Amino acid sequence: MLKLSKKIANNRKCVSFVSNSACSVKSNGVNEKGNLKPFEEIPGPKSYPVVGTLYKYAPFIGDYNAEALDKTAWLNWRRYGSLVRESPGVRVLHVYDPYDIEAVFRQDHRYPARRSHVAMYHYRLNKPHVYNTGGLLSTNGPEWWRLRSTFQKNFTSPQSVKNHVEKTDNVITEFVQWIKDSNISHNEDFLPFLNRLNLEVIGTVAFNERFRSFNPEEQDPNSRSSKCIKAAFGSNSGIMRLDKGFLWRLFQTPLYKTLADSQEYLEKVAQKILLERVHFFDHDDENDSSLLGYFLKQDNLDLKDVLGMMVDIMMAAIDTTSYSTSFCLYHISRNPEVQQKVFDEISALLPTKDTKINSCIVSKAVYVKSCIKESLRLNPVSIGVGRLTQKDIALKGYLIPEGTVIVTQNMVASRLPQYVKDPLNFKPERWLRGSENYENIHPFLSLPFGFGPRSCIARRLAEQNICITLIRLIREFNIKWMGDELGVRTLLINKPDKPVSLSFIPRNE
Ligand code: HEM
Repeated sequence: MLKLSKKIANNRKCVSFVSNSACSVKSNGVNEKGNLKPFEEIPGPKSYPVVGTLYKYAPFIGDYNAEALDKTAWLNWRRYGSLVRESPGVRVLHVYDPYDIEAVFRQDHRYPARRSHVAMYHYRLNKPHVYNTGGLLSTNGPEWWRLRSTFQKNFTSPQSVKNHVEKTDNVITEFVQWIKDSNISHNEDFLPFLNRLNLEVIGTVAFNERFRSFNPEEQDPNSRSSKCIKAAFGSNSGIMRLDKGFLWRLFQTPLYKTLADSQEYLEKVAQKILLERVHFFDHDDENDSSLLGYFLKQDNLDLKDVLGMMVDIMMAAIDTTSYSTSFCLYHISRNPEVQQKVFDEISALLPTKDTKINSCIVSKAVYVKSCIKESLRLNPVSIGVGRLTQKDIALKGYLIPEGTVIVTQNMVASRLPQYVKDPLNFKPERWLRGSENYENIHPFLSLPFGFGPRSCIARRLAEQNICITLIRLIREFNIKWMGDELGVRTLLINKPDKPVSLSFIPRNE
């Protein structure tokens, strides 16, 4: 936050915009709302009674695709401009301009809310013997803050994140050895292997649990690791369609059943790990530096809250980190001069391949980190950030009523030439202060981890895991992209739409 406000202070245009906008809203009050244009006047597709704009997503008649929300967002921007109104069942506002995105966040509630994971919330509240709440992802209001404030210290403090570097490096080093031994070919999609790696990393860091997901017996689809990865995907992939639908409220639709079965499996795995820790180990086990170890050392912690958090971690960690790492590898491997710079930096930090990575090395890997930032600009896991307004707000002269779902369209905006130079090219230097190609990019343009108190709880951890993975892989291999151009399928989070096809050529240096 401190860094961000400094950045904003350096950007005078941004400051004046924000203060004007925020003042006008605060001083507007109810009396001045009359000066604002009504929400319905915001440009957007034609809306009909009952169906709203849902027909746009219908097969054959609609020109929107719910699995290509990035393209739909692009289409809307070209047709209607930087603020777009939609009503696919709920009132939605798409916001593209980073100055407006900033104004939205500056007017956010102290407990920022999202309207998502509605069916999962329903599922969990129907199991009061297992869960206290819908969990961090789906709960809003004071109950969300109770959970967030209970758990976030261990996730977000820089020192606790640094404590995980060495064990993460050990898991990733094993992975690199596995690549060398198994001689994988570029004809195999690398994404499922990254899923296994990230299950292993999060298992170790969060629960002090090894899934051994690269062992031959774990390759069976019925093994614990295979089923965990499938259940995490099964939980995430239906969320958006379930958020839009309502039939699951009346009977168990196939999509709802997939969600419920997936949740149930993750729940079983989490429950077993939790009960083992609680029954067989001393709470004050000094050797357990996992997140779960810290949770259990906290006073007055409710085990049902811990279980919900464990399931949220499994859901939120595997696909997000694997997709983000895939896109980093895609961009770096397609840009040999970037890869060479990455290698130069890494080989100075790790003079030999078996040098252990520590937190100091991670903090010095600045070029690697600018590659991660640049990759997340072009390919964020989420097209933007969702917020549910909890009071009327003003934006660009319009009144945005309470209960509107705002979607900040960061992915589209980050690819527009008015905000970034040469936007479709992968240029990590644009993030590097001191580089002659450094750009003063608006701080609200690229928000891959969201913003504010509701932003990703594991941001530092996720960035660290990707950074160590890139360091280890590029120290060991020259990586070549062998596939087609990658796009995204928007299944709540943006999945690569084609196989991640990489060739790993061992380095001698
Ligand atoms: C590259 C990897 C990741 C990306 C890009 C990412 C991105 C995001 C985004 C965009 C949000 C919503 C933020 C907002 O509404 O402002 C979020 C929330 C969340 N993420 Fe992540 N995430 C990643 C990895 C992880 C990991 C590894 C975990 C768990 C260990 C995790 C756990 C969560 C949780 C629990 C929330 C909900 C927070 C809340 O509502 O208070 N994420 N993440």
